[in-house]
Amino acid sequence: MIQITSYGPWAVITGASSGIGEAFANQLAASGLNLVLAARSADKLEALGAALSARHGISYRVVAVDLSLPDAAATLIEATEGLDVGLLVSNAGTGVPGRFLDQEIADLRRRMILNAGSHLELIHAFGRRFVARGRGGMVLVSALGAAHGIPNLAQDSSAKGYLLHLGEMLHHELARDGVAVLVVMPGNVDTPIIDTLGVARTDLPIRPQPVDKAVREMITAFLKGRPTLVPGRMMRVMVRLLPRSLAITTNGRMLGKAADNIAERARVRAQAG
Ligand SMILES: NC(=O)c1ccc[n+]([C@@H]2O[C@H](COP(=O)([O-])OP(=O)(O)OC[C@H]3O[C@@H](n4cnc5c(N)ncnc54)[C@H](OP(=O)(O)O)[C@@H]3O)[C@@H](O)[C@H]2O)c1
Repeated sequence: MIQITSYGPWAVITGASSGIGEAFANQLAASGLNLVLAARSADKLEALGAALSARHGISYRVVAVDLSLPDAAATLIEATEGLDVGLLVSNAGTGVPGRFLDQEIADLRRRMILNAGSHLELIHAFGRRFVARGRGGMVLVSALGAAHGIPNLAQDSSAKGYLLHLGEMLHHELARDGVAVLVVMPGNVDTPIIDTLGVARTDLPIRPQPVDKAVREMITAFLKGRPTLVPGRMMRVMVRLLPRSLAITTNGRMLGKAADNIAERARVRAQAG
């Protein structure tokens, strides 16, 4: 089987300061890859890079960018010039539960850039670089909800849907150029996003999958040349068994409750001071 190091000496990871991106950084560094670590939290990225460099002897570069801003992807691309990048893990993203019309258009636009537009810029720029060097790989982190959309997360699940479709098409289109593309559709991976989204763990139908295990599955699926992956065997079984209409309504109800939980948290914070 192809090794993860056979794509080139450097990998770019967005959203590397936490969760899935951080686990990718740990596992790719352990394989000996040098890393470009991108997210907003420069201090976390610097601490992670320094720790991985000390442990595995790799080189790293930190790029602090807010990928919800229109020029941020270009800044990241520019910061990698001169590095022989062979792997892109385009992973940064988020969601804000709540009714679509209750959200401000400026916020929806920013998350459209984060969850779709920045991926487009990175995929296009690195895609051209990979084709020119005759080899490359992309792991694109979408979401399980991208497959059907989720009420009360309508904008973010739709933007993730764009990434799912673009990535899956490019899996086929770029194969002949030596560029491998995997789209990951996490739905229940144990990262801080579960709490950020306001989802109560007791509302989850299945216990969340440990993030290191999920990322090991992602790397294996990528190396096997798969087009898409839903991490977690139980999640894959659930996806097969649950009719689309039921998936939409049950997830919509869960995200509706999550929006209420966030509103309640804000109310308690405001009361406290
Ligand atoms: N865990 C799951 O089950 C699950 C389910 C569905 C989708 N996903 C997707 O998986 C990806 C990784 O999420 P995670 O689960 O690992 O959650 P996480 O622990 O919250 O990590 C999210 C990462 O994205 C970065 N990020 C967020 N907003 C950003 C911005 N404006 N600019 C640059 N970076 C930004 C964060 O870094 P900073 O805050 O430092 O910027 C962080 O490194 C996301 O795209 C998420 O939507 C995960």
